[in-house]
Order: sequence, then structure tokens, then C-alpha cells
Amino acid sequence: MPRALLLSLLPALLAAYLACRAEGDASKPTPFVRRIIAVGDLHGDIGNAQKVLRMAQVIDANGDWSGDVDFFVQTGDIIDRGDDTIKLYALMDKLREQAPAKGGQVLSHLGNHEWMNAIDVSSSYVYGTEIATFGGVEERQKTITTGWIGKAWAANYTTASRLPLHPSLGPPNTDYPPPSSSSSSAPLSHAAISFVHGGLAPSYPALTPFPSHINALSRSLLAKLQARRPFPPPHPPHPYPGLPADATPAEERLYGTDGPLWYRGWALDSEEAVCKAVDDVLRRTGTRRMVMGHTPDFDRIVSRCNGKILIIDTGISHAYGGVLSALSIVYSLTPVDAGPDSSLKTWVEKEVVTALYMDRQEVLAEDMRTVVGNIV
Ligand SMILES: *[C@@H]1O[C@H](CO)[C@@H](O)[C@H](O)[C@H]1NC(C)=O
Repeated sequence: MPRALLLSLLPALLAAYLACRAEGDASKPTPFVRRIIAVGDLHGDIGNAQKVLRMAQVIDANGDWSGDVDFFVQTGDIIDRGDDTIKLYALMDKLREQAPAKGGQVLSHLGNHEWMNAIDVSSSYVYGTEIATFGGVEERQKTITTGWIGKAWAANYTTASRLPLHPSLGPPNTDYPPPSSSSSSAPLSHAAISFVHGGLAPSYPALTPFPSHINALSRSLLAKLQARRPFPPPHPPHPYPGLPADATPAEERLYGTDGPLWYRGWALDSEEAVCKAVDDVLRRTGTRRMVMGHTPDFDRIVSRCNGKILIIDTGISHAYGGVLSALSIVYSLTPVDAGPDSSLKTWVEKEVVTALYMDRQEVLAEDMRTVVGNIV
């Protein structure tokens, strides 16, 4: 072939080669990826909350939902110990509203402080300056019962969440075990994370079905608290009103020391004790990890038992002066090309759990598995 002809063909040959390669890449299996960011106790500090959400790429430079994450989870205790209660709940509402347009979702939780305020207003943890932002004690009580914050708690906040990692397992708060037990042993059945404020104690009787049992108790107790007239006056000087007289034993247990709002065992018990107990709770709730706030470590997000227990309260509010942090969980499921003869599909499933700080990141757990089965 004359050299000139070869040279004139070269661009076409190159284009054909590149097209071929592109096609090869396109037929390569693409992974499913889900990005979850969880943030712990915020306690009345909008400035630090925004810094954390920006750092974790939940919000953009304008403070709007960025679209870079799929789920933003907040584990409760937004209220008290700072003056920005109103601004924080408004921010949560805004992000909840904006997220779906970019394929995202916000999961909000009631912490023990939301519940304490639903019960009454105590001067021991509610600042006078914060009360003033509502326009006084009565206005505050109205806002968090029949007003917009109280309505948001009832409609858009839960006490527990179960977040499946893959869409084939259903939307957030799909119960485990499922009503028909057929899929409870499917390859991905426990590919989910639980979120509560305090912790899911092994002794707590309303663990299953998870999370609907806890959330039904939470809804009914909150409704009873919000329906009281008149609202109990602040204590002190008035006596602590406690739960309503018509609260059931199960509702009282929800708010008890081994209930999901107050439990501290996963944070405080010995390594040996928690790692011995954790698998049973994960098995019963259909989850692989549990995430909680409530018991702060001011230096870091605490990972125990190889990331099965993740405690994310780092005292973000200036009231505590802890480190600014967020937990990132990136889940991916990648089909492996097993050839045309293979009837069963093989997948590589991966979870990377990372603690995010303003100046560094720390990988807390990195799990990879091979999964065989039909996942749609
Ligand atoms: C709950 O969230 C949805 C979605 O953002 C919103 O439209 C609705 O107004 C919220 N409900 C309350 C009572 O805040």
C-alpha cells in the first residue's frame, strides 16, 4: 500500500479504533452507587451545621441541596443549648423539600431533646435567649406542638429508620422482617442501616418489625403529648409533668433508659460486651450496621466492632466545642461479567464507611463481598 494512502487512512483507522474502545467501555457493567451522609446532634448551632453539611457535600455554596448525595440522615437533638433552633428546623424542611428534585431524600429523627421539649420546657437545658427567638415560652410551646415545628415532627420525623442500601430492598423504612418471609434470606436481605438517636438495646422489646414497631409507638406518644391542654408550665418552678396519664406501658418504655432515645450501652459498655451482643440486634432488625448519636465523643466518630456500631455525636454545637464531623457511607453493587453461559449473576458488593472532618477523612470500615443471585 502506498505510504500516502496509508497516511490518508490513518485518521479513519484511529476513529474506528476509538469507537471500538468506547463501545467496549459502554458494555462494561456499570455499578449501582448510593451515597449516604449522616450527621449527629446539632443543638442549636446553624453555623456549624452548615459547615458540616457543606463539608459533606449535602449542600452547595448557596446552602441548597447539592444533589451530590442520595440520603442525608440526621439522628436528632437539633433543639436546645443554642439559639438557632428555628433556623435549623427551617433548614431541614428546606432540604427535605429540595432533595427529591435531584433524586435525594432527607431522613430526620427525634432525639431525646425533641421529646423532652414535647413533654415540657425545662430551664435546665433550654436557654432564655433561645426562648426569646420564639417570642416567649408560650409561643415556643405552641410552635413545637400545634405549630409548624410540632407538625413537622409528627409528619416528617421518626424515632427510628431502616435504610436499605439497594432499591431492590424497598424504600427507606421498609420493615424487617418483611411481611412475607420469602425474601428475608435473599442475598441482600440485611443490606440496610439502622438510625436512631440513642441506640437499639438488645433488651428493648419493640425492636421488630423494624422500624415500624418503634415508629408506631413514637407517633402515638407524640400525638398524646401534643394534644394536652393546657400545655404544662415550665419546670422548675413547676413540677415535672412526665408522660401523659394515658401513655401505655409500651410508650413509656419507648422513652425509658433502654429505649431508642436514651440507650447508651453501645457507646459505654465494654468492647467485648457490645461486640458479643451486636450481631443479634443486626440480625433481628435486618441491618448490617447501626448508626446513633446521643453519647458524644468530642474528638471523633466512634466505630466499634468493625463498623457495626457507629456513634456520630461529636459535639458539633459550639455549646460543646467538639469536632465538626459527618459520616459517609458509600454502597456500590457492580455486576461481574460471568460470560453468556452463566445463568446466575455475580455481583461485587462494597461498603465504604468514612468519617469526614474539616481537615481529614478516616476510613472506618471497608467491606467487600461477592453476591450471587438475581437482583433487579
Ligand atoms: C413534610 O415534608 C414534605 C416534603 O418536604 C412537605 O411538603 C410537608 O409540608 C412537610 N410536612 C410538615 C407538616 O412539615
